[in-house]
Amino acid sequence: MRRSHILGVGHCVPEHVVTNQDLTRLMDTSDEWIQQRTGIRERRYSDGCTGASDMGAVAAKEALTRAGLDASAIQCIVFATLSPDVDMPASAFLLQEKLGMSGIPAFDVRNQCSGFVYSLAVADQFVKTGAYDYVLVVGSEVHSTGLDLSTRGRDVAVIFGDGAAAAVVGPSPDPDRGILSTHLHAEGKYAEKLWVEAPGSRLRPRLTEEMITGPDGRVFPHMEGRYVFRHAVVRLAEVIREALDANGVSAADLDLLIPHQANLRINQMVAGELGLRDEQVVNNIDRYGNTTAASIPLALYEALETGRLQPGMLVCLAAFGAGFTWGSALLRW
Ligand code: UT7
Repeated sequence: MRRSHILGVGHCVPEHVVTNQDLTRLMDTSDEWIQQRTGIRERRYSDGCTGASDMGAVAAKEALTRAGLDASAIQCIVFATLSPDVDMPASAFLLQEKLGMSGIPAFDVRNQCSGFVYSLAVADQFVKTGAYDYVLVVGSEVHSTGLDLSTRGRDVAVIFGDGAAAAVVGPSPDPDRGILSTHLHAEGKYAEKLWVEAPGSRLRPRLTEEMITGPDGRVFPHMEGRYVFRHAVVRLAEVIREALDANGVSAADLDLLIPHQANLRINQMVAGELGLRDEQVVNNIDRYGNTTAASIPLALYEALETGRLQPGMLVCLAAFGAGFTWGSALLRW
């Protein structure tokens, strides 16, 4: 079977920077609390009329340019998002139209913070088996229009930001380089630990004024933060080890770990658990917050742009998020 690789990466972040200080004007919080607990200094918010597919399209075009490919080369679109432009149809179709890729298969992956790793795994299978030559994988999120930006929602609201990044996956030009393996997991019993309950098909009516303005704020994300935090540290370390073991390498062999950006403290604890040095771990949460499905490709993009990621390096991508879901991918860049 042939090996697949990421041939080009692109990104798109809104221009509007929202600092921790800006948030103190909306809710009872402080720059000190946010930085100490999460490592976040600022995040980006869209203008309110930008959907996930709009930013995804910009990121995709850049990824195509970097891959040296025309849009007509793409044979399938996998779009990871938890904040689709509309409830239905999937954002993948809106993106497809914006990119002029009419007729090719397209679908959304609704796997929250693990969305990119899951989508990459899907693309890897398609390319490896020869089903498609080039698959476009996009992670894009507009969180800012769905957050409770009052003191009630502060534990969740301060951590999320908007952003997008995309990757073109295709046959690796060098059989020794590319995606070595992917590892996916989920545990639905914890779905309620981090979720947005409404609107939903099991509610009649699906949406009421009370769900928005009532004391429960059921349309906003709710999280048992400490619970999620503990699971994230354990599962991330576990799934990174799984990827290393599957390829007969150790953490010391890893040139770069590009973890999901949910909380700097989570990534520091995972690094400590695996004995990784700071220079082996890519973190950019300080500038973007948690952009869920976009966070890993956004960090990957920056690692490439800054020259931190070089050909031949051993790289691990790892994610954990709502569901719970978690996963990893090991690549020889
Ligand atoms: O991306 C998907 C996966 N997500 C994650 O992995 C996130 C995991 N969880 C976390 O990152 C952390 O749990 C948070 C950053 C969300 C919260 O940090 P924490 O250290 O777990 O704080 P906490 O929720 O236990 O709250 C501690 C205190 C509480 O006050 P009391 O009860 O001790 O008086 C909160 O009310 O901090 C208060 N608090 C805040 N204070 C200022 C909660 N949010 C804020 C805030 N500003 N934004």
